[in-house]
Amino acid sequence: MTRKLFVTTALPYANAAFHIGHMMEYIQADIWVRFQRMQRDNGVAREVHFVGADDTHGTPIMIAAEKEGITPQQFVAKIAAGRAQYLDGFHIAFDNWYSTDSPENVELSQGIYRKLRDAGLIQTKIVPRFYDPVKGMFLADRNIKGECPVCHAKDQYGDNCEVCGAAYQPTELINPFSVFTNATPVLKDSEQYFFKLSDPRCYEFLKAWLNTPGRLQPEMVNKVSEWLGEAGEKLADWDISRDAPYFGIPIPDAPGKYFYVWLDAPVGYLASLKNYFDKKGLDYEAFLRDSNTEQIHFIGKDIVSFHLLFWPAMLKFSGLPTVERMRVAVHGHLTVNNEKMSKSRGTGISPLRYLNLGMNPEWLRYYIAFKLNSKVEDLDFTGDDFVARVNSDLIGKYVNIASRCAGFIAKKFDGKLADSLSANAQEWIKRALVTPEGVERQANIAANFEAREFGKALREIMEIADITNQYVDENKPWILAKDETKLAELHDVCTTALILFRQLTLLLSPVLPGVAANVAKFLNDEQLVWADTDVASGVVSSALLGRTIGAYAHLMTRVDATMIEELFDAPQGAAAQAAAPAVKAEKPAKAKAAPAVAVTETGIEVIAPEISVDDFFKVDLRIAKIVNCEHVEGSDKLLRLTLDAGEGRLRNVFSGIKSMYQPEDLIGKLTVLVANLAPRKMKFGVSEGMVMAASAVDEKTKPGIYILNPWPGAEPGMRIS
Ligand code: MSP
Ligand code: ZN
Repeated sequence: MTRKLFVTTALPYANAAFHIGHMMEYIQADIWVRFQRMQRDNGVAREVHFVGADDTHGTPIMIAAEKEGITPQQFVAKIAAGRAQYLDGFHIAFDNWYSTDSPENVELSQGIYRKLRDAGLIQTKIVPRFYDPVKGMFLADRNIKGECPVCHAKDQYGDNCEVCGAAYQPTELINPFSVFTNATPVLKDSEQYFFKLSDPRCYEFLKAWLNTPGRLQPEMVNKVSEWLGEAGEKLADWDISRDAPYFGIPIPDAPGKYFYVWLDAPVGYLASLKNYFDKKGLDYEAFLRDSNTEQIHFIGKDIVSFHLLFWPAMLKFSGLPTVERMRVAVHGHLTVNNEKMSKSRGTGISPLRYLNLGMNPEWLRYYIAFKLNSKVEDLDFTGDDFVARVNSDLIGKYVNIASRCAGFIAKKFDGKLADSLSANAQEWIKRALVTPEGVERQANIAANFEAREFGKALREIMEIADITNQYVDENKPWILAKDETKLAELHDVCTTALILFRQLTLLLSPVLPGVAANVAKFLNDEQLVWADTDVASGVVSSALLGRTIGAYAHLMTRVDATMIEELFDAPQGAAAQAAAPAVKAEKPAKAKAAPAVAVTETGIEVIAPEISVDDFFKVDLRIAKIVNCEHVEGSDKLLRLTLDAGEGRLRNVFSGIKSMYQPEDLIGKLTVLVANLAPRKMKFGVSEGMVMAASAVDEKTKPGIYILNPWPGAEPGMRIS
């Protein structure tokens, strides 16, 4: 029996480029898929199909397209065109990348819906919905804005507040208005279509499905069990319809109604598979109905309800049997320096910037793999940790084996490896590949890859590397090479080290496919197959004997720590763009130590080069009220100011004026804020602007820094020009 795997990642919304969190999910799935592709079942290669697609429907994409004055289809096509550079760049080997806005998806979604309807699981209900009386249309949550009921920030969306993070119903907004017409929305009854999740059949099915051993992670079983309640009483019907205008798939026999995006999104998995099978001339129906087919979805923890309640129920009651062999692998989220990623605050990492800086994609694959386990835990990207991990493991332990030994094979033995190994060498190979308890390490490693315990797998692989390095260190090929009488020994040691290096490469190849391909080339291996990791078969020690290998080219360089500084996103948004020149003008902290500032005869800093009025107006200076001011724990320079610049929200700004002012003396005063300066991530948080302050060029003889205070009459929000 050959295992047949249908593997997906979540389908990303087609409203933005990938961020590093997306790449984490793809890397996780790709490693698992590559491991599977190397496996054989009874000598036959395992069948693996790995597909993805853009999730194109829904209101946010519709609004984004409208803003750009293009159709949603054009908008989505633009995003789709940008995907390959990320996927190829990080060696993510999807078999197919498709779209939920496709004929296959329309057909499959509508087909599933009809089956559900035939099964008596679709019901219509009349529900009140916000309606724009001027535009004459129903409003989605994101089409409504108003004042946050919690923190009273103005201009917040109908579902959650971007200032305080509160989630609420659009009906709770204070002074709600339609984003299209500014009209006050009214409640209007609307007929909506529901998937009857409250039907006892759904509960019965889900309960059994959920508790099938091996299907879900234990923490997910617990979570979903809670959602089900004791006897399914907590399962509520699911509203699957949206009113026109909506970018989505029409509901059959329901004019003006569209499927809510989450109805057709997971069907997109099937649509991508079908599209791929059709292109390949494979039998899609037969594959899905094959009892050997396993369906595995890799997703993040934020979209669990859709994948563990609605999607299996949809598959089950539309008669798709793969649901019985469906598994969901849920991962936590990637944080950066222990913060949630946020573009506006500049705490994200752009995968493209990473590549453009010349950083090696396999460093990231290794680092992420090292941090991953099979649990639903968040994982953190920290610069120092990344540098240390990559440099000490990948370079220090793995690459170094080859770089210390391969050269001698070329130089002293015409590139030919030894024909046989000494007893001592064989002993070391055994020590490296078999644990003291007699367990073959590769079996453990394979089990860990299968179970998505990548961190554990890599730790075990690094144990093999440690033993190999110990062997090389003890035998010192660089010393042997100096002694013509020790050539046979040198040959033995370098051959042994390369045998183990090849083994390490094989085990690492799901994580480092590019490196593995280069190693295969240099060792003249046609292909690295997992079966060659099998110590008992004897292949391991014999595969390379007597073989002539190619010239060794360095496989991977160390991470240069300064790259990491460049890596973090510059904060984005209009303010950031407008403020670009201002950022450059700012004196970097390091420059202060050795001021390279020209001074006039009168002892002041030389006046800066002339600018135009237009240049000046790029800097947006505003009156701001200091509504709060406090010391910053751990900083002897900074005060934290909370400023009101009349925007209906407050800003957090750090200022290096602690030496001059007591916080309580500043509270209530007005001052001048550079309002369009790019937000800046500092050790203590994000600074959203800069207060203006005066200081002398020579801080030693004329210390002091003085903030500005407007004349009476100025009010928060007034522009200064
Ligand atoms: N379009 C839906 C999924 C539909 S699946 C039928 C969606 N898209 S998304 O673009 O917001 O997210 C795509 C995937 O990326 C999700 O699995 C999500 O959990 C994952 N991630 C989003 N942010 C992430 C991190 N910070 N870290 C890891 N994964 C992250 O949801
Ligand atoms: Zn709020």
